Amino acid sequence: MTNPVTVLGLESSCDDTAAAVVRGVPGDMQVVSSVVFGQSDLHADFGGVVPEIAARAHAERLDVSVAGALEQAGLCLSDIDAIAATCGPGLIGGVVAGVMTAKGLSAATGKPLYGINHLAGHALTPRLSDGIPYPYLMLLVSGGHCQFLLTHGPDRFTRLGGTIDDAPGEAFDKVARLTGLGQPGGPAIEVAARQGDPARFAFPRPLAGKPGCDLSFSGLKTAVLRARDDIVADKGGLTAQDQADLAAAFQAAVTDSLAGKARRALDLYLDLGPDVSTMCVAGGVAANMTIRAALETVCADFGTAFNAPPLSLCTDNAAMIAAAAIEQMPHRAPDGMDLSARPRMPLDTRSAAMLGSGKKGAKA
Ligand code: KG4
Ligand code: ZN
Repeated sequence: MTNPVTVLGLESSCDDTAAAVVRGVPGDMQVVSSVVFGQSDLHADFGGVVPEIAARAHAERLDVSVAGALEQAGLCLSDIDAIAATCGPGLIGGVVAGVMTAKGLSAATGKPLYGINHLAGHALTPRLSDGIPYPYLMLLVSGGHCQFLLTHGPDRFTRLGGTIDDAPGEAFDKVARLTGLGQPGGPAIEVAARQGDPARFAFPRPLAGKPGCDLSFSGLKTAVLRARDDIVADKGGLTAQDQADLAAAFQAAVTDSLAGKARRALDLYLDLGPDVSTMCVAGGVAANMTIRAALETVCADFGTAFNAPPLSLCTDNAAMIAAAAIEQMPHRAPDGMDLSARPRMPLDTRSAAMLGSGKKGAKA
């Protein structure tokens, strides 16, 4: 057993500027403090995250976040044992701002610096929230990512599959926009869907018949767009019931897709013969109660435990970055001042790059 350490974490890879202090040992950690500055208000007029605006906001708020996290913890920099920061993947301006802040803090204090893969932060969250033993199956479902990961250890992941186009959160946001519901789309669709009839539209479950654990949400989004256009052409607009039915049918399609591929991922995971088997979810979409319930049912069928960390640890935060550093410290050396920020940074470098991963290589 290693001695407990206190780590200051920074997160700035998308549209949340965050700092947190976490203390503990691998598998037994406490969040001492956590500060998250969201940027949704800054991007609201643009229909998506604007990288330049995000980068500027991160640069302006990182030091305030660090001061806030230290104050909330009742600590000063000299009480911290190490500095951790997301070094990719993400919007490069924001990642650079976080890495440079962490380098400055490390250089000024002499404390070791750890660059952390943002996806490892999400994937290792069940270690922070509940000390879930390795190996576990992780379904990471957020606005930017969707992957099934065998999590063997703090720096060993096997990607079983993931989206070949949009992330599910991105699809929730787009569908909410095109049906006239609010942003962020996930919660708006979830609320509207409660009054809707999921059977009114037969939306596709893309890739359902294909072997493997890959997912696709882009065609589903187009199907919702067509259904909306048909209603508008017919009636001149959408009623609240139309919105609710579209939301319910879309949510049902996403839920079925995730649950169906979760069954395949569980088969592969259980082949490892874990002593204790757990399927975990993380990411903003893990907040969706219909999706959670469906995944829980799948896990019950397989005799596997289901774990969903609290939402504050599912959405982007810096506690997961500090916790990932505590998990990884016994297995790796700190980074030097040559640590670079990377827009693309796959967690599992051995598996083939996802389809649609772009000319510059695998994103994640
Ligand atoms: O993990 P997150 O905070 O940020 C990323 O790293 O992307 O996830 C944000 C995404 C948004 O797309 C949002 O619409 C979605 O999570 N989301 C939901 C729900 N709450 C948030 N999707 C479905 N149902 C929800 N209740
Ligand atoms: Zn994230």
